[in-house]
Amino acid sequence: MKKIAIFASGSGSNAENIARYFEGNSKVEVSVILTNNPNAFVLSRAKDLKIPSYIFSRNEFYKSDDIIRYLTEKEIDFIVLAGFLWLLPINLLRKFPDSILNIHPALLPKYGGKGMFGMKVHEAVVRNKEKESGITIHLVNENYDEGKVIFQSKCKLNPDDTPEQVAEKVHQLEYEYFPKIIEQLL
Ligand code: GAR
Repeated sequence: MKKIAIFASGSGSNAENIARYFEGNSKVEVSVILTNNPNAFVLSRAKDLKIPSYIFSRNEFYKSDDIIRYLTEKEIDFIVLAGFLWLLPINLLRKFPDSILNIHPALLPKYGGKGMFGMKVHEAVVRNKEKESGITIHLVNENYDEGKVIFQSKCKLNPDDTPEQVAEKVHQLEYEYFPKIIEQLL
């Protein structure tokens, strides 16, 4: 059994979609959901899904081994970042080499880097009148949005699409492909 930990900072619709995809699977399990945000809606989703959750502070994340201890205790094999907004500390990256996957809501290397997340990405895409956008699933390293790209998928944009409409198209791609790519990698 491969055990996944999902990190999410906000709504967690991807976290829920991934957890539901693997429900009843004998080989893969979403074992825990972790967040830096005590008000994140993902916590309510975790409760409904009956998946344990763990809330951590900035200090705990960057200045202690608590998270690694927790993940080791839960026998986690693989980490998925699903709307998680903090850069990962080196101790976590070393502990899970090539085993941390992120999803970015654009076609990297465009619209990546610090401060480029969620709606900010879609607003920039619309501002620049892009004809397409999409998703990038990539391994995580010590820089924002720079690890090895594993998968990309595109969607066409209309000239009058709003950032919300772009977000919706991108979310549909995320829901369709993210669980499948995780499954392939495990
Ligand atoms: C997703 O669109 C994800 O690609 C994006 O945040 C959203 C989270 O939505 N991630 C980033 O922007 C990372 N830089 P969700 O909480 O509903 O899954």
